[in-house]
Parts: sequence; C-alpha cells; structure tokens
Amino acid sequence: MPPSRLLPTLLVLAAALPAATPSAPPASAAPPAARYEAGPRTRDGIGKYYFGREISQVMGHLGAGWLERAEREEEERTDLLLEALRLRPGDVVADFGAGSGYFTWRIAQRVGPAGRVHAVEVQPLMLELLQANLTRRGLADRVLPVLGTASDPKLPEGALDLILLVDVYHELEFPFEVTAALARALKPGGRLVLVEYRGEDPEVPIKPLHKMTVAQVRRELAVHPLEFVENLGVLPRQHLLVFRRPAAPR
Ligand SMILES: C[S@@+](CC[C@H](N)C(=O)[O-])C[C@H]1O[C@@H](n2cnc3c(N)ncnc32)[C@H](O)[C@@H]1O
Repeated sequence: MPPSRLLPTLLVLAAALPAATPSAPPASAAPPAARYEAGPRTRDGIGKYYFGREISQVMGHLGAGWLERAEREEEERTDLLLEALRLRPGDVVADFGAGSGYFTWRIAQRVGPAGRVHAVEVQPLMLELLQANLTRRGLADRVLPVLGTASDPKLPEGALDLILLVDVYHELEFPFEVTAALARALKPGGRLVLVEYRGEDPEVPIKPLHKMTVAQVRRELAVHPLEFVENLGVLPRQHLLVFRRPAAPR
C-alpha cells in the first residue's frame, strides 16, 4: 500500500484501539471537546457552557469608556483592590485581560522601575488604548503589551509573581486552556487573583453572566494545579479570590 493510503488506515486503527492506560484520565487531561457543552444562547452569552455556566460575551473596545469612568474607584474601591494585592517593588505581574490599562499603569507604579507588567489582551484596539494610557503617564517602559489569543495568553512559563484578572474570567472563551497556561506562567508560590462581581448577590447591579459565585469559581479552578488561598472580602461589589501555585517541594 502506498504511504499516502497507509496513513489514514493507521489513524483509523489507532482511534479504534483501547487507551494504553486502564484507569480514567484525570479531568485535566480530558479532551477539549468533553470540557465544553453547547446550549441555549442567552442575550449576553455565547451558547457555550463550562461546568454548567454559560460563558459571557467579551466586552468590546467600545466599553473602554466604562472601564475608565471617573466614579469607578468609588463604586468598586479599586484603591482597596490594589492595596490588597500587596505588590512589592520588583514584582513581575500580568494584568490579564487588561482592557484599556486601568489597572496596568497603577500596577506599574507600584512595582517600580525594577518591576515588569505583562498586559495581555485579545483585542488589538484595547492594546492601542492601553499603550496611549501608559505613554501619557511615562510608564510604558515597565509594561510589555501582549496580544494573546482566546486560548493562549502568550506568557512565559514560571516567570510571574502575580496574575490579576479583573472582570475577565467569566468571559474567557477557553477557560480551561487559559487557566492551565496561567498556572504554568506563575512562579512556584505565585498568586492568581480573580476579581468577579458577586453572583450570590442580586443587589449587585451587573448582568448575571458577568457575575460569578465563589462556589462556581472554585469548582472550575479545582481541576488545575492551584491552591485556593482566600476570598478577601474588602470590595463592595466583587469577590477578590486568591489562588496560588504550590511552592516547589524542598
Ligand atoms: C470587562 S474587561 C476588563 C478590563 C480590565 N481588566 C479592567 O478591569 O479594566 C475584560 C477584558 O478581557 C479581555 N479578554 C477576554 N478574553 C481574553 C483572553 N482570552 N485573553 C486576553 N484578554 C481577554 C477582553 O478583551 C476585555 O478587554
């Protein structure tokens, strides 16, 4: 049989063979198709479900004005959020889903000239706004703008002290792949911080798909090599959930 006809035959045979390992693979090793389900597409969602949760649509670049609104600090106490991160000069941080850079430049100020901020976005227009924001404040040299893809944050492995996602996780199209990559990008002992509007609280004036409950976040992150550390209850409307990549054993 010529090689061109042999290959498809071998592929079919390989697919029909039982798996080499007798036990079921861990959840984190399940094929991507099994992780997500298609379902009814509601007004703010994409009709793709993960752990029973419909993934929200991404906020477009036209939402940048809302992210930069003057009353944001007072409404969301973003000053308390930044304080709670306990950033130190020289820290290497990723602002993942950085938007127009609201948090990026504030983090860049705190990590100082010896620190670095990787600002990851999937929308090139958001990165343009972010770049202008940083240049205006003279902080561009501390920030590495990164154009990621929906499933790949394009971050270096084992390099980050902290990764911050503010109002981002609920709109990740590939939450499993992205979280796995973020866990790999942390240094051992590095922190992954998720800020999400409280899904348990009907008083929080945000659309349901843009909120998350603690139980849901913890269920979704439990399949990754991350430890839950704490939910810092310092914000008026949002959870501030801290996870950590376990420190390397001595
Ligand atoms: C609601 S905005 C929040 C922006 C910023 N964190 C803030 O609080 O000002 C969410 C951002 O996440 C970005 N985003 C969504 N999925 C992403 C992904 N897979 N990788 C990088 N950015 C993503 C969107 O483009 C959007 O700009």
